[in-house]
Amino acid sequence: MAKETLSVTDNRTGKQYEIPIEDGTVRAMDFRQIRVEDDDFGLMTYDPAFTNTASCRSAITYIDGDKGILEYRGYPIEQLAEHSTYLETAYLLLNDKLPNEKELKEWVHNITYHTMVHENIKRFVDGFNYDSHPMGMLIGTVGALSTYYPDGKDVDDAQARELQTWRLIAKMPTIAAYAYRRTRGLPIIYPDNAMSFPANFCSMLWRHVSEKDYRPDPVLEKAIDVLFILHADHEQNCSANAMRAVGSSRPDPFSATAAACAALYGPLHGGANEEVLHMLNEIGDIKNIPDFIKRVKAGEGRLMGFGHRVYKNYDPRAKIIKKTAYEVFDVVGRNPLLDIALELEKIALEDEYFVSRKLYPNVDFYSGLIYQALGFPLEMFPVLFAIPRTAGWVAQWREMITDPEQKIARPRQIYTGAREQTYVPVGQR
Ligand code: ACO
Repeated sequence: MAKETLSVTDNRTGKQYEIPIEDGTVRAMDFRQIRVEDDDFGLMTYDPAFTNTASCRSAITYIDGDKGILEYRGYPIEQLAEHSTYLETAYLLLNDKLPNEKELKEWVHNITYHTMVHENIKRFVDGFNYDSHPMGMLIGTVGALSTYYPDGKDVDDAQARELQTWRLIAKMPTIAAYAYRRTRGLPIIYPDNAMSFPANFCSMLWRHVSEKDYRPDPVLEKAIDVLFILHADHEQNCSANAMRAVGSSRPDPFSATAAACAALYGPLHGGANEEVLHMLNEIGDIKNIPDFIKRVKAGEGRLMGFGHRVYKNYDPRAKIIKKTAYEVFDVVGRNPLLDIALELEKIALEDEYFVSRKLYPNVDFYSGLIYQALGFPLEMFPVLFAIPRTAGWVAQWREMITDPEQKIARPRQIYTGAREQTYVPVGQR
């Protein structure tokens, strides 16, 4: 049988090395022994943006980008979107198995009974300007939770980790709804423990203060739950990496989640769905699409909602979301931007530029259209992504904390600056 090793010859010295290969991977530290002089630092690997570096072992989410496969704990995303709920999926991500009936009941109970936030949080949210971006409010407020739960620092205590998990998953929709109502000048609606997770979210967003028997349309409740399932985790993406990197210095998970939210905020990650809507509005009419595509191909901007670091075939979430979009439009009416989106997708999928670069619609291409049809302002889009991704972030964080191979995340650099300068007083420069 062929040896599972890599033979390396250092042509600077003629020395040979045998580097073990495990799981199709070589360890960067095995290259450190390769040096010219005994006191050399040793060979490093250079990988800006981690395009070919595994930073952890993980059993949470599996992606085959070439085949368009996404699985949580081995379960295909298509099956979970059809049969599961967000809370059950969150349990799966966090516990490595689907819950039995009793476990599910307890889990849902624990999340439901942690949806309230401290009254001071309400005042904290009130402190933001009425025109603040709700994602900025979310980042700040999740970070502020750290000051309410000092036991969050007990990151080595499994029970404390479980408690923070409930709090984080439960309180994200409450904070998001507070932020939403703050921007509209509407009074806060408290969580309703008799409702499902997505229905309670709808209630906190849209219920009128004097409305006693609010119930969201079941199609919209289900659509929000499906969107939450699709966004729950996506292995080592930018925000999960932020969660792990910040969590690796062992602050409480509220602080680490604030960092993950900040990473998600950017237009190349969770901010992309907002950008898709800006783009569709800018295009404005189907007749302007060819000109827009021409500009993208000339390097003047990107086709937002297209392309993915990992999926080079298609994003399986985009397929499910497209179906959900039609179900929502049947209830709330067709989003007028849908026709532009469909035509844009059709042209891009046939165009050599996009085909050769393997650029396909990603999850964000259609999610924004659904959010807009549901009545959300653009600024809420990344917030709607952050709520369910919290389950993934916390699952990634818990896996990192309990992984004996993990340490504080601290990459190396190739220094390119000056050396051995001599300080000159300011008056003499
Ligand atoms: N529109 C036009 N061209 C694109 C796009 C796009 N959306 N995405 C990539 N390209 C081009 C690049 O210009 C590059 O072309 P070149 O080889 O001629 O230079 C080539 O395709 C490869 O692009 P990279 O930037 O190297 O791809 P990378 O894997 O680093 O980027 C990313 C992935 C950031 C998602 C990118 O495709 C992008 O910016 N897409 C638009 C933003 C977006 O939709 N983000 C959401 C991602 S999904 C999520 O976060 C949930």
